Amino acid sequence: MAERTLYTAGITGVGMSFPEKRLTNADLEKTVETDDQWIVERTGIKERRLAEPGTGASVHGAKAAEQAMVHAGIKAEDVDLIIVPTVTPDMVFPATACLIQEMIGATRAWGFDLEGACSGFLFALQNARAQIEAGHAEKVLVIGTEVMSSIVDYEDRNTCILFGDGAGAVVVERIDPELGGILDAINHVDGAGAKFLHQKAGGSRMPASAQTVNDRLHYVYQEGRDVYKFAVKGMAGVTAEIVERNGYSGADVNLFVPHQANIRIIEAAQRRVGLVDSQVAITIDRFGNTTAASIPSALRVAYDDGRLQPGDLVVLCAFGAGFTWGSALLRWTAR
Ligand code: UT7
Repeated sequence: MAERTLYTAGITGVGMSFPEKRLTNADLEKTVETDDQWIVERTGIKERRLAEPGTGASVHGAKAAEQAMVHAGIKAEDVDLIIVPTVTPDMVFPATACLIQEMIGATRAWGFDLEGACSGFLFALQNARAQIEAGHAEKVLVIGTEVMSSIVDYEDRNTCILFGDGAGAVVVERIDPELGGILDAINHVDGAGAKFLHQKAGGSRMPASAQTVNDRLHYVYQEGRDVYKFAVKGMAGVTAEIVERNGYSGADVNLFVPHQANIRIIEAAQRRVGLVDSQVAITIDRFGNTTAASIPSALRVAYDDGRLQPGDLVVLCAFGAGFTWGSALLRWTAR
């Protein structure tokens, strides 16, 4: 939607970093009662990446950020602000943004972590945009990075098949308004959804204890069927809304880059806007659900595959724990 702002923000660089180690459906067949066909048909996932134990989210986050900065042609010292959406920070505090700031040498930057679960990247992108549009920052790093394997119960077949580790990052910069950049964003939360998807222990309500560890309360808890219903409605709704309220239709969209949680949720959103497969970015088959890292890493894959050209109309959307959900509309500005 046309809003009067001082400046315009656009993505000028994208990066990603994934651990080498692969966890395939065949590997999971050996540890829980599941099978490759069920996982592929119900989720679209074939394999995911696993970080070595002891690897904090900062490690791949810093690498993804470095690739994004090379792409944008900026130096770490040029960065004003670092925002790290993550549900798996290195530590409860300090923020992973601080750790990455030190690792990459972004000596001038301030920063913070943002907890928006699977919608965290979109929430952070909107924050980066707001800082730039208001004139408070010129160069912002948004780094979605997750070590989901640190909070996944590999004895629970309902959840262990879904998640993977990895990172994706973008550089958001003040740009020439003629180029378009970030045109619009829609963001929502509904705390009534918290009961369906959360981690029970380790926060202030239920601090870690021998009992909470014994009771396996430090893992992802999800009521998948309920989350699925809300995710289809939420993702399809905000995707259609952002396209339509800006006067576009599905045919105008060059690339749709949705959060990668389940291929069937993506297809529902795709159908709602009338998009064909060649307009949709899919990485869930190789990376699984990487929470806040899924959209920025999918952007880097699309860029590497030559699917993103300056001027392209790009739609992003996500749904996650909270519930949180949202979408963004961009004219692609990275070269
Ligand atoms: O990114 C954050 C947001 N999260 C999401 O968007 C996830 C949303 N939810 C989903 O993607 C899906 O609900 C799942 C992929 C988690 C599950 O798929 P589903 O089609 O909703 O399956 P279900 O939970 O309804 O389970 C169907 C059956 C059950 O057996 P019964 O009760 O019908 O006998 C499950 O026990 O499938 C069984 N099942 C499995 N079978 C083989 C559940 N997990 C597995 C498994 N392998 N890994």
